[in-house]
Amino acid sequence: MLAVLPLLVSTSIRGGCVVVTGASRGLGVGIARAFATEGAATVCLVARSEAGLQSVCRGLAAEHPN
Ligand SMILES: NC(=O)c1ccc[n+]([C@@H]2O[C@H](COP(=O)([O-])OP(=O)(O)OC[C@H]3O[C@@H](n4cnc5c(N)ncnc54)[C@H](OP(=O)(O)O)[C@@H]3O)[C@@H](O)[C@H]2O)c1
Repeated sequence: MLAVLPLLVSTSIRGGCVVVTGASRGLGVGIARAFATEGAATVCLVARSEAGLQSVCRGLAAEHPN
């Protein structure tokens, strides 16, 4: 699924804003990464685990500094 996700999002998300729920681990992290990689200007991460979100946020910010 994650292999095809970039193809699905690339035509519509560039420069846009997305909200990813369940983004503290697992598939949500992969989905958030795919949107960031495909050029979303803002990726909002949502979950109950603050520690998980902070960790994912730091990682994605380091991978996508702009
Ligand atoms: N990973 C796979 O390869 C795979 C394959 C097929 C199907 N699935 C299914 O896809 C779903 C997601 O799996 P996953 O591997 O990404 O891991 P997961 O352990 O289900 O967690 C994914 C996200 O969902 C959130 N979450 C979990 N329970 C929640 C609840 N009751 N209310 C709100 N948020 C909740 C978690 O965040 P917080 O706990 O921080 O809120 C986490 O960010 C699952 O249902 C799984 O069975 C996964």
